[in-house]
Amino acid sequence: MLAELSPPLIAQVQDAAKLLASKRRICILTGAGISAESGIPTFRDKQTGLWENYKAEDLATPDAFARDPKLVWSWYQWRRKLVADKTPNPAHHALAQWQQHTISNQQQLTLITQNVDNLHEQAGSIVTHLHGNLWRNRCSQCHIPYINDLEGSKNSEDTINFDELLLTCPHCDGYIRPDIVWFGEALPVQAWQTAEEAAAHCEVFISIGTSSLVYPAAGLAQLAKQNGAKVIEINPDPTPNTIVDITLAEKAGVVMPVLIAQMTALQF
Ligand code: OAD
Repeated sequence: MLAELSPPLIAQVQDAAKLLASKRRICILTGAGISAESGIPTFRDKQTGLWENYKAEDLATPDAFARDPKLVWSWYQWRRKLVADKTPNPAHHALAQWQQHTISNQQQLTLITQNVDNLHEQAGSIVTHLHGNLWRNRCSQCHIPYINDLEGSKNSEDTINFDELLLTCPHCDGYIRPDIVWFGEALPVQAWQTAEEAAAHCEVFISIGTSSLVYPAAGLAQLAKQNGAKVIEINPDPTPNTIVDITLAEKAGVVMPVLIAQMTALQF
């Protein structure tokens, strides 16, 4: 596996594996890039088809929903349809394997994601969600969760009515919206506390497949660094993150299985 990488990348993977094998507290933040190899476009990719003239930043906002709830709801129904048949890729599986391995190697690994696609869970990981869950809904007015079968039936397109237009709340008649954190909204308190604590106390922070543009999540790497952690970034394209100690410039699905195999080999 290692031989398939370029010589400079091999050296960087080995450095990262050595570092990880010698540390106990690890915090990992994932973004849309980790799901790219599962076939889910990232937010920086240009949208396609019906939505090619819209930008995600203009649809994922409370203002956009207030202005045109049908438009925003339809976009999320389209996104749900796009994600429904997607499955975890080798990067999700490698992280899940690592989490299971921490039972025997005494590492403490906190996995935090900005993704709403649930692919980490599907791979078997325990994960803290900063930006909500694509398969859950709630009322936009009274915030009461709207119970439907979306989450349980995620992989069964037959049971999801993707064409369903605008649902209303049985309690207050407000419009139902996806339970996702939109631009300008606060992150879930408990999830953010978990993320901040893990970032502030970790020895290594790994940022995987995120453009590091959207705050507050993008600030977690800085918090870790200020508290003495080393920062590893896994992303085929450069990001504005200037505090990185080791950059693994390759797709997550290619580099994660190799990195974890190397780290594990050093631990035994
Ligand atoms: P972005 O779409 O901003 O960035 C995706 C990153 O993944 C880019 O830096 C790509 O270079 C990188 N990438 C692409 N393919 C990759 C691969 N195979 N392996 C590793 N990296 C790869 O996604 P996020 O940083 O997650 O918020 O975006 C943050 C937030 O902005 C999202 O959670 C979403 C969005 O608006 C909400 O929906 C609230």
